[in-house]
Amino acid sequence: MADTAKIEIDGKCYELPIVTGTEGERALDISKLRAETGLITLDDGYANTGSCRSEITFIDGDQGILRYRGYPIEVLAERSSFVETAFLVIFGHLPDHEERERFSEQLTRSSALHESMMKHFDAFPTNSHPMAILSAMINALSTHERPRIDPGDEQNLERYAARLMSKVRTIAAASYKSSIGDPIIYPRHDLKYVDNFLHMMFSVPYQNYEASPEVSHALNMFFVLHADHEQNCSTSTVRIVASGQANLYAACASGVSALWGARHGGANAEVVQMLQRIQREGITPRQFLSEVKDRTSPVKLMGFGHRVYKNFDPRAKVLREAAERLLSSMEIHDPLLDLAHELSEAARQDDYFVERKLYPNVDFYSGIILRAIGIPLNMYTVIFAIGRMPGWIANWRELNDNPGQRIYRPRQLYVGNPLQDWVPRHQR
Ligand code: ACO
Repeated sequence: MADTAKIEIDGKCYELPIVTGTEGERALDISKLRAETGLITLDDGYANTGSCRSEITFIDGDQGILRYRGYPIEVLAERSSFVETAFLVIFGHLPDHEERERFSEQLTRSSALHESMMKHFDAFPTNSHPMAILSAMINALSTHERPRIDPGDEQNLERYAARLMSKVRTIAAASYKSSIGDPIIYPRHDLKYVDNFLHMMFSVPYQNYEASPEVSHALNMFFVLHADHEQNCSTSTVRIVASGQANLYAACASGVSALWGARHGGANAEVVQMLQRIQREGITPRQFLSEVKDRTSPVKLMGFGHRVYKNFDPRAKVLREAAERLLSSMEIHDPLLDLAHELSEAARQDDYFVERKLYPNVDFYSGIILRAIGIPLNMYTVIFAIGRMPGWIANWRELNDNPGQRIYRPRQLYVGNPLQDWVPRHQR
């Protein structure tokens, strides 16, 4: 196969190198294009743009493959824990016994927030969205921690990675408690990562919450499935912010803001709201799909479609089975799960969705799991953010590890006014 491509511009021929990734995927290296031709590329939404070389996550969207550091997502979901997967994503290898114990211990020891940070929660208005609180509090955390992170110093990075992952979980639970006017529950050192989060979410001063193994397992799997997803909107945001040399905490706070939107992480809550609306209004899945297909309507089938997956999203497959398993173990019959199945089946038989290769994505079934656990709707995207922390940290590290890294600075094609003459105020 050719290792260069030729393009002809204004009668002159230029050669561009073709570079190949580990799994044989090929890319046109245009890094010298502007210098040599004076032209830039135009790629709205970056759909054809590879923004970096990365060793963290591999996706084949046509075949529905997702791997962290070479390990298939299905294997990790079944066999690994979130803490172990986080270590793998950030440091590139599965931890041995000693590394796992040390990382776990650091997560446990860093779970408490500085007491003065607790006061910040009182300053947010009641009913503030927890994503706004999470982003603000991660920035606030950087004023307490003053992180001096050397990405090349593994021990130092491990310490800060553990601190950030651990405290984000505490902030998330505390933001929920303060939003409902309940006292904030402190973390416990005898509980593991997921159980400690559930304790801070659901314990009250007069009663401890004990997570069942099924609930704990389902949330653990949820976090594993969300741990990284290469250059998505929020991870690219983290990289952009980091490329200006902002610290890890500032970059991750930006990642939270980017994740919030309905087209990205916010879709998990939108899916449940969509299912509730269909149920409430008593419309059939077909009627709802007609609304979605109507060009004059802004309604989308939330939890469907993906920029990269054009066959199936392997995470949705795992989550669908996990949702069914969890509900049956809890002896819950959730009509929203039945409705989700019916919608998905109706879309599968509809040309609009088939032609556009629209399939359920990670968000389609995840809300059903969170609902069964008792997580309130406005916390769904916060839970996604807790899960995505390892991916953001790993991408921050990878970018900072690259000595040749330049600031992210795309160009544009200007289509505004041509040169204007200044008009004095009295003549306008
Ligand atoms: N419902 C209805 N139509 C859709 C949907 C959907 N969910 N998704 C895409 N389409 C249609 C588009 O209208 C477009 O149709 P057209 O060619 O006739 O104009 C076509 O499919 C291609 O869609 P694009 O918007 O170009 O796809 P893009 O890659 O830009 O967007 C996205 C991907 C944002 C995920 C989109 O599919 C969407 O909005 N889905 C619903 C929201 C959602 O579930 N987001 C979560 C994604 S996973 C994640 O971020 C964690």
